[in-house]
Amino acid sequence: MSVRRARLRSLAKINLDLRVLQRRSDGYHELRTVFQTISLGDTIVIEYQPAPRTEITLDDPLEIPDNLMVRAANTVLDALRVTARVDMQLRKRIPMGGGMGGGSSNAASILMALPVLAGRALAPERLQDIAAGLGSDVPFFLIGGTALGLGRGEEVYPLGDIAAEPILVVSAGLEVATGEAYRALGRGLTLRDWSRRINGFRLYVRALEEGRSAAGASSYSANDFEPVVFRFHPQLKLIRGKLSKMAAGVRMTGSGAGIVAIFRSVEDRERARQVFEQDRELRRHRLLAASLVGRRSYRRMWREQLREFLSGDTEAWLPLGRYGQ
Ligand code: C5P
Repeated sequence: MSVRRARLRSLAKINLDLRVLQRRSDGYHELRTVFQTISLGDTIVIEYQPAPRTEITLDDPLEIPDNLMVRAANTVLDALRVTARVDMQLRKRIPMGGGMGGGSSNAASILMALPVLAGRALAPERLQDIAAGLGSDVPFFLIGGTALGLGRGEEVYPLGDIAAEPILVVSAGLEVATGEAYRALGRGLTLRDWSRRINGFRLYVRALEEGRSAAGASSYSANDFEPVVFRFHPQLKLIRGKLSKMAAGVRMTGSGAGIVAIFRSVEDRERARQVFEQDRELRRHRLLAASLVGRRSYRRMWREQLREFLSGDTEAWLPLGRYGQ
């Protein structure tokens, strides 16, 4: 087999809603979230060639320490029982440490691409387990679109597609350490808080499913990290406040520091962008325009970027796994 080469877009995610419940005995926090893929993405070029022993390289100008892509490649080759030379190049656009799942998405991209490049299938359940072993957000990227995330976030259930609404993402150049944000939030949580949070989450999901619009459901949304993270980084609260005047809804994503504004139309977004660029405080931050990406588009994108190497029923690829029925 000659070298097989594919160019992959690895999309970011946002959390449309995020509630943190109790700390579990394994140290993770039980959570309830709604994940959503967005059109902002990194580019990965991956080359695969069978070889007597496995050799994996990663060309990443940012030299991200302990990059999950290498671990993902090793683990999936082992599971496929093949040895190969795998060369990867990563071009980053997704802000790092911004709550946008960039590293998790990159790892999931490798999990999806390598079996196809190797011409072998892995059971979707197996892939999902490997993904969960790499990180709590990785399994979501195997299904994309809009999805419920339960457990520590690794248990994902697809929701129906919602409108592909336009968004602005503000990256204040801060990196919030996920573990620390959880610890700060976990202190002082009571049983009463948990039931309030579960109820709030139920209302959000109902509003989202009924209206099929994140802009429409935004008055029900919450991110439990906001008060904790805003205490350390008051400028994020300021950004949210200013954007709230122009957008249908504004939320921090994940444990921060990305702030996401959702709009009902591209015109509304462009108006907000102009105001943003003229604001002395706001224009110091990186501003990215994108839109929500539904599961149909996400899956189509993945089939397209690996089409050359897919055989048989390409429509059936990629299988949704144990929660996909
Ligand atoms: O799973 P992942 O490696 O992404 O998690 C990073 C850290 O975030 C964990 O070590 C843990 O401290 C915290 N975390 C948590 N509860 C979750 C997810 C992550 O406490 N549901």
